Amino acid sequence: DKGNYRHFMAKEIAEQPEVIGHTLAHYVDMAKGRVKLADNLPFDFKSLDRIAISACGTAYYAGLVARYWFERYARIPVDIDVASEFRYREPPLNSNGLALVISQSGETADTLASLRHCMESGMKAAAIVNVPSSTIAREADAVFPTLAGPEIGVASTKALSCQLTVLACLAIAAGRARGVLTEQEERKLITALIELPRLIVDVLKIEHQIEGMAKSFSKAKDVLYLGRGTSYPVALEGALKLKEISYIHAEGYAAGELKHGPIALVDETVPVVVIAPHDHLFEKTVSNMQEVAARGGKIILITDERGAAEAEGVGEVLVVPASNPFVAPMVCLVPVQLIAYHTAVFMGTDVDQPRNLAKSVTVE
Ligand code: M6R
Repeated sequence: DKGNYRHFMAKEIAEQPEVIGHTLAHYVDMAKGRVKLADNLPFDFKSLDRIAISACGTAYYAGLVARYWFERYARIPVDIDVASEFRYREPPLNSNGLALVISQSGETADTLASLRHCMESGMKAAAIVNVPSSTIAREADAVFPTLAGPEIGVASTKALSCQLTVLACLAIAAGRARGVLTEQEERKLITALIELPRLIVDVLKIEHQIEGMAKSFSKAKDVLYLGRGTSYPVALEGALKLKEISYIHAEGYAAGELKHGPIALVDETVPVVVIAPHDHLFEKTVSNMQEVAARGGKIILITDERGAAEAEGVGEVLVVPASNPFVAPMVCLVPVQLIAYHTAVFMGTDVDQPRNLAKSVTVE
């Protein structure tokens, strides 16, 4: 049921504060300010050599964000690949590593094949899934459910937010188990997570501004998305969302890669969405942004108030609430979802059932 919403996608975007809250309630002991996981996990974060993540599409981007978190907060090396490549790449797998697959549907053929491949080679395998009765959930050694509720729109939105929430909790648990995070640091990260639903409620308030940009996006033939650090997967996700539902060609790049090729595309007809919360990478992204501006590119900057003040005059700015850099990718995700949604609505495409796509991809 779409309720009062025009599309399932709109409803699912709006539900994010609530479903992130549900997911957090499952993984966080609110009274103690600590992550709680089952006692009988079939693996131990403390003794893991590495984590090998595989997933497809948007779920793969969740894994890309998580790589930064596992490496930074738990000092675990992470391998990550799209599942369709992972299974044929023949990476040397070792039994001290954990395989981690991420899938909304739990039925994606390539992700399932990756899971089976890892388990056959003796690795323990964990799965982050939204459908508890799915094949991937049944076969994995450990299942970490996302509590997003049914996701109907083909374009994944709330499932990604919940995947990131679970991954954030796992990274914190791993950081504690490995003695990387102190209790105080853990509590700080948990506080940031607990504030997230409220921050996203605030982000949703700029929906009107984003709706007003739809017309100009709809005229573009190409759109670029740029970000560094955990904003880089957000850039990839923004581009995928726009492609999927508006059929406008879009690409996401690590901001530092711009001058290695894509800048050749930039002229006054190309909107460039820059995701840059005011963190330790901000200055660097801004200098990439200035290179775009110098070539006449139309900049749409997603940042917080401090970032907006420092980047004044640069183009259109979408101001999101400031947050702990840990959760910033989840805050910045919402505007890129809304850009895709409103552009598609403006263009009159079938937002919930875009052409050529299926909600669950059960063939290779
Ligand atoms: O069900 P899964 O999470 O395994 O699906 C993976 C991808 O097919 C999926 O995320 C796809 O990229 C979405 N349509 C993106 O919006």
